[in-house]
This record gives sequence, structure tokens and C-alpha cells, in this order.
Amino acid sequence: WLAPAAALAIGYLLGSIPFGVILTRLGGAGDLRQIGSGNIGATNVLRTGRKGLAAATLLLDGFKGWLAVAIVAWAFPGEAQLAAAGAFLGHCYPVWLRFKGGKGVATLMGIVLALHWPLGLIYAVVWLGLLAGLRISSVAGIAAAISAPVAAAILGRFDLVALLIALALIVVWKHRENIERLLAGTEPRVGGRKTLG
Ligand code: G3P
Repeated sequence: WLAPAAALAIGYLLGSIPFGVILTRLGGAGDLRQIGSGNIGATNVLRTGRKGLAAATLLLDGFKGWLAVAIVAWAFPGEAQLAAAGAFLGHCYPVWLRFKGGKGVATLMGIVLALHWPLGLIYAVVWLGLLAGLRISSVAGIAAAISAPVAAAILGRFDLVALLIALALIVVWKHRENIERLLAGTEPRVGGRKTLG
């Protein structure tokens, strides 16, 4: 039981580092949870007007997911999926923020890249392609998350499908307020003038 428990714990601890909150505070831009959507992810960091901090949040939130899976795959081969689940849950439900964490899109990017790099590539193309085309972060993120299990099946990585379906479902659940705003036509575009109240 030691290896699975260690894989989950390493994943959770790394995943639960709230880079958005930390960088925003260090950058003197306030408490991210009081800004915009209140989410701790890069999209919301962007609403502070600090593009550099937003880019750093995106990269570090992705990197921690990648690192958790990579470390565990090296130390405990066979436990990578538990590390992936731990890192994802750590980001979305961090104990340090009373379990009110992020929506998982950037961290999942790093996770899929580490699990099977071609999946990461597909995820990035779907995510960034839709983001560039639509400039609606939530739609791009949800689509990328859903594309992951589909792409895994197409690439013959059936061993990853169940995990990726579960994580995609959590991404959708975490975006429920965004989905309500999308249906109401009030979801703001990245770089747009409409702001969140
Ligand atoms: O990944 C989060 C993004 O999809 C939406 O963020 O701040 O607009 O809720 P936000």
C-alpha cells in the first residue's frame, strides 16, 4: 500500500500549491479570490492586468501536474495514474484554501503531457486553438478536458480512458458557474471589455 499512498500524497501536495494566489500576492496585485471570478487560475490572474503573472501561473500550474506524474512514474512505476489523480484533486480541492481550488484545466494539461505526451499535444492544440479562436477560456478548457479521454481511446491508450473521463467530469463540474454564464450570454471573453461583477 506504500507506493499507491505515496503516489497520491506526492501528487496531492504538488497539485495543491496555489500558484495563482501566491504569484498574485507576491506581485502586489491583491487576493486573487477577491478578484473577477474568484478562481485561482491563470485566466483570473489575467483579470488583474498582469500578463506576466498570468503566464507564469499557467506554466507553473501545468508544470506541477507534469512534475507529480513524472516523479512518481520514476520512483514508483505503475502508480502514475494515482499521482495524476492526486495532483488534479490537489489543485481543485487544496486543503490550504479550505478545499476551494481551481478548475483544473492547466494542471490537467501537464498531467496528460506526462502520462502520454501525444495526448498533451492534442490537448494543447484543442485548448489553445479554441482559446485563440473564441477567446472564451472556459469553453476552450472544457473542450480540451473532454478531448483527452477521446484522444486516449483513438490513440489506443485505453488504460487511461477511465481516469481521463473522471477528471474531465470534474473539470465540467468545476465550471458550472461558467456554464451558467455561457447559457446566459454573460461569460466574458479573454481580453474583452465585459468584466465579472
Ligand atoms: O480554467 C479556468 C477557466 O476555464 C475559467 O476561469 O476565471 O473565467 O472562471 P474563470
